[in-house]
Amino acid sequence: MIRSKIPLRTLAVLASPALLLPVAAADDYRDYRAEAMAMVKRDFQAKGIAGLDRLEQDGVQAVCNRTGNHPPADVVRRLEQDQMASVRFPADGKLMGDWKEGEKLAQNGRGFTWTDKPGLPVGGNCYNCHQISPKEGSYGTVGPSLYLFGKKRGYGEDIQKYVYSKIYNAKAYNLCSEMPRFGYIGALQEQQIRHLVALLLDPESPVNQ
Ligand code: HEC
Repeated sequence: MIRSKIPLRTLAVLASPALLLPVAAADDYRDYRAEAMAMVKRDFQAKGIAGLDRLEQDGVQAVCNRTGNHPPADVVRRLEQDQMASVRFPADGKLMGDWKEGEKLAQNGRGFTWTDKPGLPVGGNCYNCHQISPKEGSYGTVGPSLYLFGKKRGYGEDIQKYVYSKIYNAKAYNLCSEMPRFGYIGALQEQQIRHLVALLLDPESPVNQ
């Protein structure tokens, strides 16, 4: 996993009394967390490209874990701004790719396991959590259905920017989101994200039929 630097502001928030106090008070929670972490560290063996660095949380994950996914509102606002600042839009401003390629990526859950070779490309695994095209009957429900996304939300530039940046870094909009930060962690590349934007926002895509 490619890990990004924690912005200074996130580090400052991590050390703030507002976040440390509830943890210090909740002894039961702390014991449980330490025990669970010890268990994971004992049983997770490094193999192939799946190294022990995967057990390390970054600043935002630490804030969310410490607060049971409910950090104070001002902390959420500031850290979401930091996450938003991480989004790199394509230099040519083109946000739409080919929805057919997007559908393949959304279907593809391949990558980052210990039997995978190092390097890219990997899949997006979107159906694991979302309903998308009605032609695919097998999907997870961790995230909302994305069927008819463009039809309901529009096809314009603003919504294209929203979808691109949501895929790039879901935490820019929802700090403790369970959706992977595909661009931020270096899993999906610019062109792949464009294809996924087209899957949701091309009027020709089966998503919008
Ligand atoms: C591990 C589960 C998971 C995976 C995998 C996942 N998502 Fe999500 N996604 C979510 C959850 C949960 C939400 C709702 C909470 C939020 O907005 O963060 C969401 C929200 C979204 C939204 C915003 C929906 C709205 O109404 O504004 C979009 C767009 C989206 N996902 C696209 C994708 C795409 C494209 C992929 C594949 C590259 C993907 N997701 C993979 C869990 C996931």
